[in-house]
Amino acid sequence: MELNEIIKKEALDIVSTYKITREATEELLKERFDKNPKLTEIVMNADSYKQVSRIKEYKNFIKQSRKEIYYSLRKYYVSENIKEPALNIKHISSEERLPYLEEFNKKLESVIGSAQSIIDIGGGIFPYYFPFERFPNLKHYVWVDKDKNAYEFLKTLHNKKLHLYNDLIGEKPWEKYLPPGVEKFDAALLIKLVTLIWRQERDQFDYLTKVPAEKILITAPKEAMTKKLDIRRREDAVLRMFIEKTGREIQGILNVGNEFGYLLR
Ligand SMILES: C[S@@+](CC[C@H](N)C(=O)[O-])C[C@H]1O[C@@H](n2cnc3c(N)ncnc32)[C@H](O)[C@@H]1O
Repeated sequence: MELNEIIKKEALDIVSTYKITREATEELLKERFDKNPKLTEIVMNADSYKQVSRIKEYKNFIKQSRKEIYYSLRKYYVSENIKEPALNIKHISSEERLPYLEEFNKKLESVIGSAQSIIDIGGGIFPYYFPFERFPNLKHYVWVDKDKNAYEFLKTLHNKKLHLYNDLIGEKPWEKYLPPGVEKFDAALLIKLVTLIWRQERDQFDYLTKVPAEKILITAPKEAMTKKLDIRRREDAVLRMFIEKTGREIQGILNVGNEFGYLLR
């Protein structure tokens, strides 16, 4: 069998599941075949796909390739298509928002545009995309995230309003994050965070519900981060649980691009 033919076939199958381009998938498979000349030879000597797909080494090879793609989609990686030299990292969750960033930021402005203090929990690199110029009253934007790369990157923005805490959620009592003279944040951003904490660090879920803020914006993705899978219903159940635990009211609904959520007060 032609190697190219089989690469194309497997790539098509992979892109039907994962959020990756066909070109990138084909390239990755090609690289992996290059590193595995023995398997390449077996494939090339086979008569049909059916025959290849029964070979144990081949099955493992494809399984490992899918795994590699899955993990690469979850990680920070060097950006090739963002032009600003300073922004040499990106994260898929912020990246995914780019096509509807303007709409998202307009919504933010309309619901919390008068805020003087904001806390962005698990903020990733969102402060880079946050429209500071449209928040004339804003004095403090407090960012809390465990991600060291994002922290180092955000430091290079030299934004005096940005207070960066490279912390784990729950590491400090909430009061430690309050800027001097502020008793409560005007708004807390928990964007694309709540459902993640529910899945990965459930013991911090309660702590999150207690963030001292007048309003809280919670959002979740409609589609899975790495897979083409509608997860809205599943995510909504977790957001509803969060709302119930806070005892807050829903003041507004957000529904933009791949994201949905609620503004709570
Ligand atoms: C899905 S991303 C969302 C990023 C950003 N809020 C956005 O929507 O663009 C989740 C972020 O939460 C951070 N995070 C996850 N668990 C955390 C924890 N236990 N403590 C601190 N940060 C955490 C990750 O580092 C990541 O930046």
